[in-house]
Amino acid sequence: MTASTIYATDFNAAPLTIARRRNYPRKNSHFAHADAFALGQIDRVFDAAFVGFWWSHMLLGDTARFLRGLSNRLRSGSTIAILDNRYVEGSNYPIVRVDSEGNTYQRRSLPDGSEYDVLKNFPTVGELHAAVTPYGVNSDITELDYYWLLTFNTR
Ligand SMILES: C[S@@+](CC[C@H](N)C(=O)[O-])C[C@H]1O[C@@H](n2cnc3c(N)ncnc32)[C@H](O)[C@@H]1O
Repeated sequence: MTASTIYATDFNAAPLTIARRRNYPRKNSHFAHADAFALGQIDRVFDAAFVGFWWSHMLLGDTARFLRGLSNRLRSGSTIAILDNRYVEGSNYPIVRVDSEGNTYQRRSLPDGSEYDVLKNFPTVGELHAAVTPYGVNSDITELDYYWLLTFNTR
């Protein structure tokens, strides 16, 4: 699958700046600020979506409203592809905390030595299928060594 035009979003300015600095020879990429939970503010409808390394940073209780908002921006039958990390011992930061809802957290440090617990969930294949079933059909999950890839079509 290839895209004739790409509309890429993030909530924060820094990743958008990094993305904009890259070279896009086809000049078909547009970058914009957007809250993943308020995609209704984007006044456009799309026919495919790619979600990169965002799922793991959502609270388990937020995945449904994210998928609902994303599906509402897409035509029926659109393909959604979601890519994120698998938990691989020794490759990931260890999980240091599990909250009462089952969300898992990694402790990460910045160059200045400050430390933060960062939300990072590692869903099972069954949890992913269950999460997307209300919003899509044909869900398929590929488990790579370090990543999982979920694809499905909007209803
Ligand atoms: C692990 S990074 C992935 C960045 C990029 N998608 C990539 O694959 O390289 C997670 C991103 O989620 C963004 N983010 C956090 N909260 C968000 C929100 N409510 N809406 C949209 N993006 C958000 C962060 O700014 C960060 O860039």
